[in-house]
Amino acid sequence: MKTPLFEFPSYRYLVSDWEFKKKGILNRINKQKYVRTKLQTFLTDRQTNNKSYVHYLAELLIPELTEFCQEAGVTCQMTDAWCVKYQKGDYQTTHNHRGWGFSGVLYVTYDHEVHTPTKFVAPWNDPRNDCTTLAYPPGITEGVLFIAPSWALHFVEPNESRKERVVIVFDLLPKLPDHQSINIDDK
Ligand SMILES: [Fe+2]
Repeated sequence: MKTPLFEFPSYRYLVSDWEFKKKGILNRINKQKYVRTKLQTFLTDRQTNNKSYVHYLAELLIPELTEFCQEAGVTCQMTDAWCVKYQKGDYQTTHNHRGWGFSGVLYVTYDHEVHTPTKFVAPWNDPRNDCTTLAYPPGITEGVLFIAPSWALHFVEPNESRKERVVIVFDLLPKLPDHQSINIDDK
């Protein structure tokens, strides 16, 4: 029988009271300055927002992040959050965020009929054919929060629509067990 040894730990939540919260989020992120540097094939406030809405976002997502922490068995802190806007033709190349912890993407302005979710690269080749496996998270609509390991390679395919695709991305750093903590209290 099939006996998986490992799993790809990913999580999906529909944000509660989304229409109300969406207004607050848009109000917040639309005040930011967006830039498109030479290397960036999208608009972002990552370099300019100064982490100004990390606490706001963490509070807004308390119900979903609480559920995630329970399911994943971790205590996490949101360490950074930024917005990415994909206009027609914009995309993001394959990357990951760091070697551990989790990263989340909140689909803020998203039409599932014309936009595509973030696409993930399986961390191992398919042993039957040595191929790289790619997957979209299922059930992505506006107001959905998807969380995956920060080490997971992922990318965004070109937005073929004139409708802007807007996401907020954030990193969650788990609290280490005391014996692994770098903040050793000598007292
Ligand atoms: Fe990313």
